[in-house]
Amino acid sequence: MPDIIAQLEAKRAEAMLGGGQKRIDSQHAKGKLTARERLEILLDEGSFEEIDMYVEHNCVDFGMEETKIAGDGVVTGSGTINGRLVFVFSQDFTVFGGSLSERHAEKICKVLDNAMKVGAPVIGINDSGGARIQEGVASLGGYADVFQKNVLASGVIPQLSLIMGPCAGGAVYSPAMTDFIFMVKDSSYMFVTGPDVVKTVTNEIVTQEELGGAVTHTTKTSVADVAYENEIEALLAARDFIDFMPLSNREEVPERPTADPWDRIEDSLDTLIPANANQPYDIHEVIRKMLDEGDFFEVQPAHAGNIICGFGRMEGRTVGVVANQPMVLAGCLDINASKKAARFVRYCDAFNIPIITLVDVPGFLPGTSQEHNGIIKHGAKLLFAYAEATVPKITIITRKAYGGAYDVMASKHLRGDLNYAWPTAEIAVMGAKGAVEIIFRGKTEEEIAEKTQEYEARFANPFIAAQKGFVDEVILPHSTRRRVALGLRKLRNKELENPWKKHDNIPL
Ligand code: COA
Repeated sequence: MPDIIAQLEAKRAEAMLGGGQKRIDSQHAKGKLTARERLEILLDEGSFEEIDMYVEHNCVDFGMEETKIAGDGVVTGSGTINGRLVFVFSQDFTVFGGSLSERHAEKICKVLDNAMKVGAPVIGINDSGGARIQEGVASLGGYADVFQKNVLASGVIPQLSLIMGPCAGGAVYSPAMTDFIFMVKDSSYMFVTGPDVVKTVTNEIVTQEELGGAVTHTTKTSVADVAYENEIEALLAARDFIDFMPLSNREEVPERPTADPWDRIEDSLDTLIPANANQPYDIHEVIRKMLDEGDFFEVQPAHAGNIICGFGRMEGRTVGVVANQPMVLAGCLDINASKKAARFVRYCDAFNIPIITLVDVPGFLPGTSQEHNGIIKHGAKLLFAYAEATVPKITIITRKAYGGAYDVMASKHLRGDLNYAWPTAEIAVMGAKGAVEIIFRGKTEEEIAEKTQEYEARFANPFIAAQKGFVDEVILPHSTRRRVALGLRKLRNKELENPWKKHDNIPL
């Protein structure tokens, strides 16, 4: 017996070394952690239970039969984050560059299957040279198997990808299929074809970082959600992030104790809106003052800043917040903002997360660039997402709610459950001056000014909408948190079903 135990221990120790100390040192020299070190930070201490530690590849070409390494380039298993179950896979760059073989893919698929069986999130850590070149098509098949599982798991269990090294070629499509992607600045990149191929085909000279680094993907492309300075920051953020998530679409949102009073009054909000309607203010202030302890996990903070999306808690329970940001493009909806918020709303709806929408929107952004790039189709995504969502929806109009954008932003007409307005709300077809210039075309400047005043007095307020029941109540800004908390309590047992369908046909 002792012999067997010693053998097992030796086998384990060998497997734990992955591609060997030299390659581990080289990983560290690049400022990167190893696959197992990352899991140690991500998961609660001592909670990681590894499976498939001894799996080896089955390739017999190019001398591969001589080089077998236990684990085959990916560490898989499960553990806990603040006591809640998660499933994980972490690609090991020290083993064949973390490249994906048939067996490596099978290990990831097993993780996804196990997570789906019990209903728990999957966190994948990507650090891989792509398809295992020696295996050819077997490896491509492996990728597709993973993609298929990612798609079936979408909307059933939360899926989070952490990109911590190369992720290129077909490899990009597994993270792309997951709900959120976090990247690390200067050490992770994602692209379909790398700088060398780009240069050959298009003559463009571009660095890896410019082509598909963390900054590029969190500002320009929106492929990734958040960029972190280093791996530890990203891993700790992933822990915070998972704390907001329900384990699956069958579960309610998690609840954590909070000392923040549900009826906390915020007098400063009463004077937040500037006297001049064209002056901006920071909607973050409302978000933080409304949420428990001001704790807000923003997603895509560096992309389409004219709309803000993120997670927080009210009375300890997770909520999703969508808010127009008057500080950027005056809070107009444009293509990027519509796509960003639509995806966020759909995620919340899939995972039973109530949505709180803060509205200050002067309309859709005008211009040929927006029109020619399809603002109609992209704006429709957000409208569609709000209209199909059946989770509790609470909307607060703080200032402008103009035109079609009023309808889109979780209005009463799109089954908003509780639609509130601050007294400063202006719910109208458009701004007063623009409206008067159209209705009274050709009038003198004085006449226009007079009519603008008249139009403002008539429409630049929340009461016409309140008279029609489009706004349920005009609330005092300082009581926003209290009203939202009460609303969420009321809506806790909300039941609403959409008609049966195979799936919808959201304008893509
Ligand atoms: N298949 C098999 N082995 C791979 C691999 C792959 N796709 N990618 C990397 N490796 C191996 C390397 O052979 C090397 O092995 P070694 O330690 O035994 O020498 C090890 O992984 C590390 O790779 P290396 O190239 O030394 O690391 P790097 O940090 O300098 O570069 C990459 C990383 C990803 C840029 C580079 O390895 C690369 O270009 N890989 C191929 C990418 C690709 O074309 N993939 C297939 C299409 S999806």
